[in-house]
Amino acid sequence: MTLAPAAETTDSGRTGTARHFLMCRPEFFTVSYSINPWMHPEKGADTTRALRQWESLRQAYEDLGHTVSLIDPIEGLPDMVFAANGALVVDGRVYGARFAHPERAAEGPAYLRWFVERGYETLEASFTNEGEGDYLTLDEMILAGTGFRTDVAAHMEAQEFLGRPVVTLRLVDPRYYHLDTALFPLDGHNVAYYPEAFSEGSRKVLRRLFPDAVIATSADAEVLGLNAVSDGRNVVVNAEATGLILELKRRGFEVVPVDLGELRKAGGGPKCCTLEIRPNREIR
Ligand code: ARG
Repeated sequence: MTLAPAAETTDSGRTGTARHFLMCRPEFFTVSYSINPWMHPEKGADTTRALRQWESLRQAYEDLGHTVSLIDPIEGLPDMVFAANGALVVDGRVYGARFAHPERAAEGPAYLRWFVERGYETLEASFTNEGEGDYLTLDEMILAGTGFRTDVAAHMEAQEFLGRPVVTLRLVDPRYYHLDTALFPLDGHNVAYYPEAFSEGSRKVLRRLFPDAVIATSADAEVLGLNAVSDGRNVVVNAEATGLILELKRRGFEVVPVDLGELRKAGGGPKCCTLEIRPNREIR
């Protein structure tokens, strides 16, 4: 596959920026417990297939000119592949995750250690939060999900530590238990989302903040199409989200379709596998 690097501008004038991602190979991936409606332990999952699909996601990022760092997977933590949940990194500051379910609790310290060892400024969270799974960063604000995993108190803690306004959004459909299963940033200012995943008040907030948002259908949401990663120009998205893909193209985005069907058996897609490390661009 030949992809245009992020930094090139499309005909429609969209420019992407090269990103730094942290990922975790799904070496120990399986479905052995159920903490969301997608997970059926009795059906299990194919680790080899998951690895192959994950490798093509990583390759797609590298072809786009992004940098991928890796954290070692840990045996007995099958969901550790979902790096987005490991932390929230904004301006080089790392807000640690504190998982809602005991099955994933050990992932929080493992991810935080990775950043501590590399000299990042870190904060161990006092409140339950599942990292970028529930915090999506735009230029002027961070959108934060609550309702299933992340506590509202953690929204305030993140705002205080990162110095960026945090807007709370309430999730109401258990299939869309993390914010990143129902919404993704198209660039620093606009988003795509599935309205039915949000409470009525939160829908109004989204309409007010993003009058020009891409609105996804239930068909796109049900294949985890909203669990996508955009660099402002290229959007890496589940291939089955055909309606969403058409609309993205219409708006001048380059679409990079991927197949992560095996990881979807745990309720994850491309974004779940991807933790963005946002460097400190501020002059202090
Ligand atoms: N099985 C995992 C869980 O329920 C999936 C996590 C997906 N990650 C995400 N960022 N949405 O916690």
